[in-house]
Amino acid sequence: MRSATAFAPASVSNVAVGFDILGFAVEAAGDEVTLTLTEGDSVRIVELVDTTGTLAPGAIPLDPAQNTATVGLLKLIEDQRPGFGFDVSVRKGIALGSGMGGSAASAVAALVAANSLLEEPLPKESLFSYALAAELVACGASHPDNAAPSLYGGFTLVVSGDPPRCVRLPVPRGLLCVLVHPHVRLDTRDSRAVLQPTVPLAGHVRQSSRLGGLVAACYTDDLELMGSCLEDVLVEPQRAALIPGFARVKAAALAAGALGASISGSGPSVFALVDDEEVAERTRAAMVEAFESSGVREVDSWVSKVSDEGARLAEARP
Ligand code: HSE
Repeated sequence: MRSATAFAPASVSNVAVGFDILGFAVEAAGDEVTLTLTEGDSVRIVELVDTTGTLAPGAIPLDPAQNTATVGLLKLIEDQRPGFGFDVSVRKGIALGSGMGGSAASAVAALVAANSLLEEPLPKESLFSYALAAELVACGASHPDNAAPSLYGGFTLVVSGDPPRCVRLPVPRGLLCVLVHPHVRLDTRDSRAVLQPTVPLAGHVRQSSRLGGLVAACYTDDLELMGSCLEDVLVEPQRAALIPGFARVKAAALAAGALGASISGSGPSVFALVDDEEVAERTRAAMVEAFESSGVREVDSWVSKVSDEGARLAEARP
């Protein structure tokens, strides 16, 4: 039976100043999807587990039309008519509702595995479009800022949603990410529901200047500039209250020497960027301690490079 397994990395989206358009892939964690070819054109989820080997019933929909790992596959089959279907096994290494791009990673991993089984594989741009269809189902909006880095790797900036188009930004030398995930589930849908639909003009100007500065910092390896641009005046203030201890965790990261810190994606994970391994470990410890002293006892934490490699095939059986 022909099958293929692909891995897609977790990602930090928004990156403080690029709401819905900026993200980077991290080596910290990822989702893995195995597809086995079946006759007909149906898609069936045969396994869905997290890192413990189980998943609470109802934690994620098993209906292929509702599950982020399979929505893109259904669309791909509808468009490409490959003459077969898939049995799908999903192993989630990214916690649900963590703000680390788990729904995008599942979609991307499934699509990369499927692509390797097609007689004529599609370009990545097509896989990107299918991944966006999956995000729409998972989060109620097809924001591409997790799917892009998870698929392509590195730092990605989405410059158009329709048609989807993104560019990879150079990753500044020496840049490290500290990522801390408090065990509190926060669904993107809920985290978006608190946001005002409009932004003040002065806030737009301030945020645009920071985003421009951050992009410039990527091209010039200027980590000092990058740090000074990690200031989200639009979205973070509206979401901070959803994350227990957020202000304390951010302050702890900055006091430990981080270049900047903010919410990872729609939260509740918090990321910090640093320019040195020793500072990274110090920042990680300070952020974990700040979560714990805010009453969050269970926390995962990582120090990671920005992953240059996006989703990749892990195994294929001819
Ligand atoms: N950018 C999205 C948000 C999350 O902050 O709601 C991930 O796509």
